Amino acid sequence: IKRVTTTSIRAMKAAGEKIAMLTGYDNSIAKALDAGGIDIILVGDSAANVFAGYETTLPITLDEMIYHAAAVVRGTKHALVLVDLPFGSYQGSVNDAYLAAVRVMKESGAQALKLEGGLEIIANIKKIVDAGIPVCGHLGLTPQSINKFGTFGVRAKEEAEAEKLKADALALQEAGCFALVLEKIPASLAAEVTAFLDIPVIGIGAGNACDGQVLVVNDMLGLTEGFKPKFLRQYLNLYTQITDAVSQYVHDVKDKSFPNENEQY
Ligand code: KIV
Ligand code: NA
Repeated sequence: IKRVTTTSIRAMKAAGEKIAMLTGYDNSIAKALDAGGIDIILVGDSAANVFAGYETTLPITLDEMIYHAAAVVRGTKHALVLVDLPFGSYQGSVNDAYLAAVRVMKESGAQALKLEGGLEIIANIKKIVDAGIPVCGHLGLTPQSINKFGTFGVRAKEEAEAEKLKADALALQEAGCFALVLEKIPASLAAEVTAFLDIPVIGIGAGNACDGQVLVVNDMLGLTEGFKPKFLRQYLNLYTQITDAVSQYVHDVKDKSFPNENEQY
């Protein structure tokens, strides 16, 4: 199978085919997502939360993102691998952003990058795009700005923030972004942005009108115990399945039924 490209992702919007994206951080899960037919695997900086156990995405480093991204790339044949640039690696000078972007592309083998923000970082995004690196924008709830927002609540409910989001979305398209992620905004606003942009809009907690959907894989598999926001559809309950399996294993070791005669040399 040929690998999904940023061109084929853009063509999916034109054809009215919805885009399915999940996050992934390691080789085993990447292989399973790829086999399941996912279009895009996002190596999200949500690895800081679900992989590393931090409360925010701020601490994860460029080296750590590259490590996760390379593991995911090695596990995929079909999916496009999209990688988050982490907090601090792209909001400074244009040249710093460019060097961070080039490092991820060279060292991980991924196909595209995602950066949070609009007009504030537009020159940095243009520089990366001009270097031949596909960029996906990210607006709405941008978790790297959590200390500015103060909560993980729904963004752009007020007119002023909604207007800024629309201006940012247009600027990102004009800067050459191939797609845009909208996180946790009213469905009506996401529908409006999806309709006026030519590039695909991929939503999380942004309603059904978007051109595609993304979820954090640990959340949709039910591995993040107790995290049940309204937008999340949980397809498995892996946390319970794993704890049940572990307690069975502990039981089998303690009562000496594991290993049996067929499980030894
Ligand atoms: O890091 C992440 O998981 C993300 C998605 C929520 C879009 O950026
Ligand atoms: Na992210």
